[in-house]
Amino acid sequence: MNISKICCIGAGYVGGPTMAVIAQKCPQIQVKVVDINQARIDAWNSEDLSALPVYEPGLDAIVGEARGRNLFFSSEVDLAIEEADMVFISVNTPTKTYGEGKGQAADLKWIEKCARQIASASKSNKIVVEKSTLPVRTAEAVKDILDNTGNGYKFQILSNPEFLAEGTAVEDLLDPDRVLIGGDTSTEEGLEAIQALVDVYAHWVPSERILSTNVWSSELSKLTANAFLAQRVSSINSLSELCESTEADIYEVSRAIGKDSRIGPKFLQPSVGFGGSCFQKDILNLVYICRSYGLFEVADYWEQVIKINDHQKGRFAKKIIKSLYNTVSGKKITFLGWAFKKDTNDTRESAAIYVADLLLNEGANIYVYDPKVSEDQMYNDIDYLNTRTKVENRRLLQSEFDPYAACKGAHAIAVLTEWDEFRELDWQKIYDQMQKPCQIFDGRNLLDKQKLEKIGFRVYAIGKSS
Ligand code: NAD
Ligand code: UGA
Repeated sequence: MNISKICCIGAGYVGGPTMAVIAQKCPQIQVKVVDINQARIDAWNSEDLSALPVYEPGLDAIVGEARGRNLFFSSEVDLAIEEADMVFISVNTPTKTYGEGKGQAADLKWIEKCARQIASASKSNKIVVEKSTLPVRTAEAVKDILDNTGNGYKFQILSNPEFLAEGTAVEDLLDPDRVLIGGDTSTEEGLEAIQALVDVYAHWVPSERILSTNVWSSELSKLTANAFLAQRVSSINSLSELCESTEADIYEVSRAIGKDSRIGPKFLQPSVGFGGSCFQKDILNLVYICRSYGLFEVADYWEQVIKINDHQKGRFAKKIIKSLYNTVSGKKITFLGWAFKKDTNDTRESAAIYVADLLLNEGANIYVYDPKVSEDQMYNDIDYLNTRTKVENRRLLQSEFDPYAACKGAHAIAVLTEWDEFRELDWQKIYDQMQKPCQIFDGRNLLDKQKLEKIGFRVYAIGKSS
């Protein structure tokens, strides 16, 4: 089956970059990315490529090349579905905030809405691809809706989870470790649908990296991959605390264990805690699924990854308070970074939000400098926690466009995001303009501790005894 038109529902961090790369690599396929959020679509269509709604290194060039040729962004969802041979669902699947499973299960209302809309707008048979991260067996519900609410057309459901990481999305899409395609391997139509999607990726991904499995394995592999990755971060973070009490150095430990080829060196970077829209949500979802099957020990095992992460964020905030003589009330504290990692403007579940919340509870005045995050976004994030009034949040938290202004007069600086530019700051100038003793809390172990100590700073770095 030859695919000539693709529609992707959801123009977010996954839908936008993924479809831009498909369009760039397959100029003969028309790719339409649709979204109900008109402002987002307008931003994707913006002439100024620096105003795209998702910041990812290299993305502007790819969008610039393909947009208007075979890549289109639109809010006409029905029309794009009708035209397409293949429809990707790439909408958000956040943790439920209400009802049964509140705080753990994935909220699938947007997925159901898409399935119903695909069924009603279709005027031909289609392949429907789950790109969103979904609980295992969601395809069953999607198929039931498609088969029972449509106009008699046939649908094949594929699972094609996305493994890109933010900040390196373009690299990850252009050169993925693997592409995973789950489908109905028991029927000819199912195998044909899998092959149609394999053929799309085969334009640039070597065939040995394109894996096909049954749908359930594919859905579960996505949750499993994120759970394993997050577990590594929590493992190293848990040991960073032990290092601080024993004069072992977490970097030396991480390097030593990472040399074991069975362990490997990646994802052993200690930090103030992992953030991002997916690790926590996907593990909570895994925990919920396990409990719903009565697998309580398995659920408890994975839940511990989240508990350690919460503990890591909390102990970082407590360390700041304790080092500032047990009171931060009325003191200026500067945050370098608000995004959940460098090279992205995404702040979802960023450790910075939770550390800020704890310090604001103590009456601190926080000034934030982040090269890619707007002040409005910071207020949205902190207001969303509902810990205090909006007025109070605006009184206690501000953002600064200039890192030196952000640091001037501060009692302490906390590094929350590992933006490279923080290394290059004039630290002597910052030292001269701060309250003494000058304290730095490096939540990313980004800065040169020895160099800063030579200037006169007191430096706390995760997993290193001071
Ligand atoms: P996002 O919130 O950035 O984007 C989702 C978009 O879907 C939004 O713009 C929203 O307006 C749109 N939408 C929702 N319902 C719609 C509907 N009925 N019709 C049209 N548009 C609709 O989310 P995201 O970060 O792109 O994540 C999407 C999915 O991909 C999630 O399941 C996530 O777990 C998964 N995922 C995300 C990442 C990542 O790095 N962000 C990586 C891998 C997988
Ligand atoms: C993660 C996975 O890496 C992707 O494969 C997956 O597709 C994606 O989730 C998803 O499903 O959304 P992402 O969250 O974008 O990608 O970024 P990561 O590089 O995984 O970092 C996640 C968090 O862990 C960040 O806050 C990062 O700073 C932190 N981290 C990562 C550490 O603290 N230490 C590390 O060694 C690695």
